[in-house]
Amino acid sequence: MPPDNHPIVAPIYQTVKFEFDTLDETLKNLRGERPGFFYSRASNPTTRQLELTLAELQDREDCVTTSTGVSAVSQTLIALTKAGDHVLCFVETYNPTRYVIRRLLGRFGVTHTMISIEDLPGIERALSAQKTKLVLFESPTNPVTKIADIAAITRMARAHGALTIMDNTFAGFHQHGEFDIDIFVHSLTKYASGTGDVMGGAVIARADLIKQFRADFTALGATLDPHAAYLIQRGLKTYFMRYQAQCVTAMRVAEMLATHSAVTRVHYPGLPSHPQHELAKAQMREFGTIVTFDLKNGFDGGERFVEALKLFALTASLGSTESLVIAPQMMKSRDLTAEQVRMSEITDGTVRLSIGLEDVDDLLDDLRQGLAAAGS
Ligand SMILES: Cc1ncc(COP(=O)(O)O)c(C=O)c1O
Repeated sequence: MPPDNHPIVAPIYQTVKFEFDTLDETLKNLRGERPGFFYSRASNPTTRQLELTLAELQDREDCVTTSTGVSAVSQTLIALTKAGDHVLCFVETYNPTRYVIRRLLGRFGVTHTMISIEDLPGIERALSAQKTKLVLFESPTNPVTKIADIAAITRMARAHGALTIMDNTFAGFHQHGEFDIDIFVHSLTKYASGTGDVMGGAVIARADLIKQFRADFTALGATLDPHAAYLIQRGLKTYFMRYQAQCVTAMRVAEMLATHSAVTRVHYPGLPSHPQHELAKAQMREFGTIVTFDLKNGFDGGERFVEALKLFALTASLGSTESLVIAPQMMKSRDLTAEQVRMSEITDGTVRLSIGLEDVDDLLDDLRQGLAAAGS
């Protein structure tokens, strides 16, 4: 193309390899002495464009993308810990993240403490009791949308010299950037593309931390493919409008559920009845698209409910255009003790909805007929 003629959408660099004109320039690039690209497992212009966009959205200096959200979490944990380190995580932490901390890092001599995200005195006690490398948390949590007190947690972590990692997947890139969080991780599989047809992950942080991660991430190898990066970058153009519209519908759904006789409790941070509604209002611009609730009739009611629904697909994930539902039977965590399950507030009647972009009245009608099947 002529140099003064630009595409409005950047092209995909669907190539694994890049070359320079000379060996000397190749070696300079490999030593980090000149910009450019060499091998797409390390870096690629299309993924780099996405990284810069995401860093700007989350209000941090830099970003490194990965093939899935889970690889963003696991590679960050591997890159930051060594034998003897201690990690503080939470009963409410996303299940595969708990697995990585407890099972995988545990094998390599990294210890952990796991308490409830609501237990602020417990966090202070854990950080005072032993030197802690990392505090990893989420807000809102999965599935019951507890709100972490981010200012309190980051203040305690900073005072004790621990780094904070926040999995901000539920809240999105436009939220929580103003807090003193060292590292954000996101699953790009969710709101970023919004279409549920591509997977990805991102780690967003200060430039010095991202620089530290890059060599380890390239060696671990869960790199985002340029075509996936292109699709995610395309989805991001409508990210905010989708997120906002889905939140408006989520609020309507939460309000309807809160008045329904088949439902005993609704977990949605936007409802004044949510125990941390005031904290959510202070921390968030939107309250998210996950609405969780407890059915009166437990497992049996849950089964009848999810099978009666026509517009909600019975499957995992969140944040895409279609609405989704998870049944109580799908939420059982085998790795938690009875006491930890009590803290997690997941019951035999807990159902999680992920609200999509369908017409709100169609969704409400579908939910009402599902609730009638569940019974009150
Ligand atoms: C909070 C959170 N973090 C990370 C992930 C993992 O993302 P992925 O499925 O892209 O690996 C998920 C997926 O549901 C999630 O809900």
